[in-house]
Amino acid sequence: MSKTIIISNRLPVQLQIDKGNITAIPSVGGLATGMKSVHTGGDSLWIGWSGLTDEEIPEELSPDIDKALAKHGSSKVNLTAEEVDGFYYGFSNRTIWPLFHYFLQYSEFELDSWNVYRSVNQKFADAILEEADDNDTIWVHDYQLMLVPQMVREKRPNISIGFFLHIPFPSYEIFRILPWRKEILMGLLGSDLIGFHTYDYERHFLSSVRRLLGLEVSFNEINLEDRIIKVDSFPMGIDYKKFNEAAKEHDQKGPEQRSELQRRLDMHKESAPDAKFLLSIDRLDYSKGIAKRLYAFEYFLNKYPQYKEKVRLIILAVPSRSNVPQYQLLKKEIDELVGRINGEFSTVSWTPIWYFYRSMPFENLIDLYTSSDIAWLTPIRDGMNLVAKEYIATRTDQTGVLILSEMAGSANEMNESLLINPNNFEQTADALYEAINMPLEEQQARNSILQKRLERYNVEKWANDFMTSLQLQKQKDHSYKSRRLSSDLIQKVTESYENSSKRLLFIDYDGTLAGFHGDPQKANPDEEMYALLDRLAAQENTDMYLISGRDKETFTKWFLPKKYNMIVEHGVWISENGEEFRMLENVKKDWMEKIHPVLDSFVDRTPGSFIEEKNYSLAWHYRKTDPDFGKKRATELNTVLTSLIANDDLSVLNGNKVIEIKSSNVNKGRAAMRVFSEKEYDFVFAIGDDWTDEFMFQELPETSITVKVGRQKTQARYYVDSIKNVRNLLDRFTR
Ligand code: ADP
Ligand code: G6P
Repeated sequence: MSKTIIISNRLPVQLQIDKGNITAIPSVGGLATGMKSVHTGGDSLWIGWSGLTDEEIPEELSPDIDKALAKHGSSKVNLTAEEVDGFYYGFSNRTIWPLFHYFLQYSEFELDSWNVYRSVNQKFADAILEEADDNDTIWVHDYQLMLVPQMVREKRPNISIGFFLHIPFPSYEIFRILPWRKEILMGLLGSDLIGFHTYDYERHFLSSVRRLLGLEVSFNEINLEDRIIKVDSFPMGIDYKKFNEAAKEHDQKGPEQRSELQRRLDMHKESAPDAKFLLSIDRLDYSKGIAKRLYAFEYFLNKYPQYKEKVRLIILAVPSRSNVPQYQLLKKEIDELVGRINGEFSTVSWTPIWYFYRSMPFENLIDLYTSSDIAWLTPIRDGMNLVAKEYIATRTDQTGVLILSEMAGSANEMNESLLINPNNFEQTADALYEAINMPLEEQQARNSILQKRLERYNVEKWANDFMTSLQLQKQKDHSYKSRRLSSDLIQKVTESYENSSKRLLFIDYDGTLAGFHGDPQKANPDEEMYALLDRLAAQENTDMYLISGRDKETFTKWFLPKKYNMIVEHGVWISENGEEFRMLENVKKDWMEKIHPVLDSFVDRTPGSFIEEKNYSLAWHYRKTDPDFGKKRATELNTVLTSLIANDDLSVLNGNKVIEIKSSNVNKGRAAMRVFSEKEYDFVFAIGDDWTDEFMFQELPETSITVKVGRQKTQARYYVDSIKNVRNLLDRFTR
C-alpha cells in the first residue's frame, strides 16, 4: 500500500530527557500544530528532528526514543550539536528566516552554515529514501528543508513530491540578495507541486524562477527539462472543531473544574466587570511585532487616558530559538519595555501588562482565548498566523474582536477583522478604541462570517486540497511523458521515414533549429545547421521546407543560395528550388497604418521592446524587457488589439515573447496544406516550438508526424525537449 511521508524539521512532539525519563511535549509553531491534525499515523509517517542532539541522547536510551516517537507515527533524523548549530540556529534561522521576513539587517551569509544546511538537508533526504517506495507521496515542509525535494528527485525521478512553505516567499528584490539563491530555487524545483499560503508569495516565487533561472513559466506552471512543476496557493486552516469544541467544554466547566489560570482571570473580571482583556499570543520572534505592540499600547494609553485601569494587555510569548543572538536581544528589549510601561502606568489596583514568557498547555490557551475580549496580533511579517484563526474559533457566543496586522498571511482571509498596519500607532490606537467600543451585534456579525469560513476551509480541507492537487499534477506529468519522443519512438519514426516513397518535411526555424537571441538577426544559422540542412535537402524523394514567421529578406540572405524550399512570413511567401520568393497568399496591408501607432505607444512605454516590420505583418518583440513587466504589457496589448481588430480580417499571434498581427487568411497550417495537396506524400513531418506552429499541427493529416519543441500544451503528437534533440532527430533521417 502506498503511504504519505511528511518531512519537516520539527516533529509534532519534542522529546526531553529528565533523569533518564523521556517526556514528549507538543511542539509549538504553526507547522507542527497544523500538520498534527492531519497526520493520522496509520498510512502516514512523519520524519523530523526529535529536538535532542546526538550528544544529549545516551546510547542506551536510543531505542526508547524511537519507541516514544513511533507512538506519534514519527521517526527521527539524528543531528549532532554542531549540525543543529549550523543548520537550525545558523542557516535556517540566521539567514533564511530574517531574509524571507524582510529583516535584511539580521540576515547573515556564512559559507560554513550553508554547507551544514546542505549536508543536513541530504540527511533528511536520505532518511526519506530509506523509507520511501516509488508509489509513495512525499510532503516536504518549510524553509529548513528547501533542498530536500531535488535531493530526493535525483535518486527517485518518478516519485511524487510536494513542498509547502509556511513562511512568506519574499519579492525578487529581496530574494536575489541570497548568495545561494539559484541552489535554493533548484532544490525546490525537485517538487511536482510547490504550495504557499498566499497568492503574493506564489507570485514572488514565480518571478524569481523566471528572472534568476530564466525558466519558462506559463500561468502557474514551470517547465524544467522533462517535468512540469505546478505552483499554487493553499492558505492553511486550523483544526476548527478541536478549538471550537474545547471552548464549548470550557464554557460548561463549573468553578471547581477550572484551571488555576482561569480562576485568576475570573477573579479579575469580577473585580472590574467593565474592564477589557486584550490578548496576544506569539513565539518570541522579532517578526511578530511584539515591541511595536507595546509601544502602540503606550501610545493608546496616552491618547485615550480614560482607558487607564480599564484595559489589561495579556502577552503570552513562547520562548523560541534562544541561541540566536537576535532573539536574546529581543527578549531583553521586551522585558525592559514591559517593565518600563508597567512602571509608568501601574496603580495600586491595576497593572496594565501581564507578561508570560513560557509555553502553556492547550487547556490554558483555551482559557486565554475564551476570556479575552480582544485579540491583538501585530506581526510585521507573518507567513500565515494561526493564532488569529484559533481565537475566532473559540468564540462560542461569537463575541470578541480581532485586531490583525495586514502583514499576516491570514489577513487575506480575515477581512472582517480590524486590519491594521502595525507601524501606524495612530491607526492601531484607534482600532483598539473601536474594538473596545464595538457593539455586540457588530462583533457577532463579523465573527459569524469568519467562523463559517474557518470551519469550511479547515486544516483537513487544506491538506486534502494540497494532496489532490499533487496527485493531479503527477497524472498530468505522466500524460505528457507518454508523448515524449523516446529512443524507441525515434526508431519507429526513422523506420517509417526510410520505408516511405515520397516525403514532406516542414521545419520551423526560431526555437526549433536555432535558439532565441535578443536581436533576431543574431540568431543566424551556424555551420552545423547548414550541414544538417544540406544533407536533408539532398535526400532523395524528400521535399524539405523551412517554414517560418521571418521576413523574406532575411531568409533570402541566409538560405536562398542553398536553394532550400522556404515558406516565410507565416505563409505569405514561398520559394522553391532556389527561385525568387513568390506570393502564396494575396494579402492586404492597409491595416498597418492603424496598428503601427498603437505598437509605437507600447514600445515607448516598455523599455527593451521593439517593432519588427515585415512585408505583411507587424511584430512587437518583448524578449529583452523585464520579464514580468513585458508579460503585463503583452496582456495589455492583447486586450487593446482584440477590440481594435474586431472588424478587420486580422489575427493576433502570441508567439514566444512576441505578438504578431497579420491577415487572418495567412498561417503556417494553410501554407503547409497547399504544399501538401500538390503531390502524393506518404510521409509527412512537421516540427516547431510555438503557437504559430500549432496551425500546422492542426491542419496536416492525422497520420503526420507532428513534433513540438518544449513542454507547453500542444496539438502535436510528440514532443522533444531541446534544440539539440531536434537536430539529433533530423540527423537520424540522413543516416
Ligand atoms: P508561528 O508558526 O510563527 O509560531 P502561528 O500563529 O501560525 O505562528 O502558530 C503558532 C501555533 O503555536 C498556534 O497553533 C498556537 O496555538 C501554538 N502556540 C502558540 N503559543 C503557544 C503556547 N504558549 N503554548 C502552546 N502552543 C502555543
Ligand atoms: C514557524 C515555522 C515552522 C517552525 C515554527 C516554530 O511556524 O514556519 O517551521 O517549526 O515557526 O519554530 P521552531 O524554530 O521552534 O521550529
